[in-house]
Amino acid sequence: MKSFLKLATISLLTSQCFGNAAVKNNAKNTGTLATVYTECKKPGQFVLTFDDGPNAGTTERALNVLKKNGIIGTFFVNSANYVDLVNSVEARNIVKRAYEEGHDIGSHTYQHKDLFLAMEEGSLEINVDKNNEVISSIIGRTPVFFRPPLGNGGFTKEYCTAMNIPYDMRTEQVRQYLGERGMKVIMWNADTQDWNNKGNVQNSINELAKSLNAIGKSPQNSSFITLIHDVHDYSVDVILQQVIDYVKQNGYQIVSLAECIGEAPYLDGYNPNQSTANQSTNTGATTGTMPTVNSNINTEPGMNMNVGNTNTATSTLNSNSSLGKPIDLESASIKNFINSIFTVIFLALLNTLLY
Ligand SMILES: *[C@@H]1O[C@H](CO)[C@@H](O)[C@H](O)[C@H]1NC(C)=O
Ligand SMILES: *[C@@H]1O[C@H](CO)[C@@H](O)[C@H](O)[C@H]1NC(C)=O
Ligand SMILES: *[C@@H]1O[C@H](CO)[C@@H](O)[C@H](O)[C@H]1NC(C)=O
Ligand SMILES: *[C@@H]1O[C@H](CO)[C@@H](O)[C@H](O)[C@H]1NC(C)=O
Ligand SMILES: [Zn+2]
Repeated sequence: MKSFLKLATISLLTSQCFGNAAVKNNAKNTGTLATVYTECKKPGQFVLTFDDGPNAGTTERALNVLKKNGIIGTFFVNSANYVDLVNSVEARNIVKRAYEEGHDIGSHTYQHKDLFLAMEEGSLEINVDKNNEVISSIIGRTPVFFRPPLGNGGFTKEYCTAMNIPYDMRTEQVRQYLGERGMKVIMWNADTQDWNNKGNVQNSINELAKSLNAIGKSPQNSSFITLIHDVHDYSVDVILQQVIDYVKQNGYQIVSLAECIGEAPYLDGYNPNQSTANQSTNTGATTGTMPTVNSNINTEPGMNMNVGNTNTATSTLNSNSSLGKPIDLESASIKNFINSIFTVIFLALLNTLLY
């Protein structure tokens, strides 16, 4: 009886240690936060991104405008927003067309869901993973670029400090979840507010001008990523062309997002614009390594204050991958270490009492 209990204690101890090691290793894998981009690598570049689509009619007209102007844009798509991307052949064909015409296809979540809310209600998996699956089922590639609805998950600590706005710790959990999947968070640093300016294109131009004509900004030293919604008639029929003209008049070159940030748009490293995005693509896409060149609003390598929480939140999805890999003892956090010590003391005490 006594020896059985001792055996049980020992196995409990080892499983605890193993568990901790697995968690540590997990923490290292998941410690890479998805990089957040708000601008391009090179000054003078400008990127057009489209959110909330596809939508029957309007998205095709946006594609027509882009084609006419010889411009590559990025479409951040939802599966269940304006159309049913899972079941509608028409909707799927719109995304396929965008892809085939050379545009980058990114994710904007399945349900157009604020990821902070998604975390609360446990729908991160459907909004991130399932949306990627839907996109992959259409174009045969898994997207890397992710545009968070409302921007939540993309407002980094540095950004909030610079803007003097409160930082939300959940941002790290969102970035970690996306980082594990090799995804990149694409924010913006110029807005058209097109959804807010229905019927008044001048307001959109004025919005853009706030960024482009801000003090100290010029094509010699600045680049921009903007957003527009390909789901509104007025946005695609009027605002889009005028934005293109305005941006060009201001001396900026409109490039693809892949070219702008120098990253492949898809997990397999495929990049329709290899010329500039070559260098960092393959490793960056799968392991989520930090690019060397980047914007001022950037990553926070190493700082994982809430690793414990995040692990519990994502362990079901991630546990599988962490088990097959070698255990990295160096990544032990103090918290885990202290936990182990307490466990050892507790078990030793228990052991003594059993005698
Ligand atoms: C950017 O370029 C413009 C025009 O050359 C110049 O006036 C401005 O001072 C520059 N800003 C910075 C931050 O270098
Ligand atoms: C893509 O690459 C081609 C060839 O280098 C280039 O001509 C084109 O401008 C690029 N398009 C964009 C928008 O990046
Ligand atoms: C880009 O990658 C392709 C395929 O890996 C390679 O053939 C090509 O030479 C590369 N181009 C540059 C500019 O590095
Ligand atoms: C775990 O990994 C195995 C082998 O790689 C795979 O077949 C299985 O589907 C994975 N399970 C989960 C839950 O991801
Ligand atoms: Zn949106």
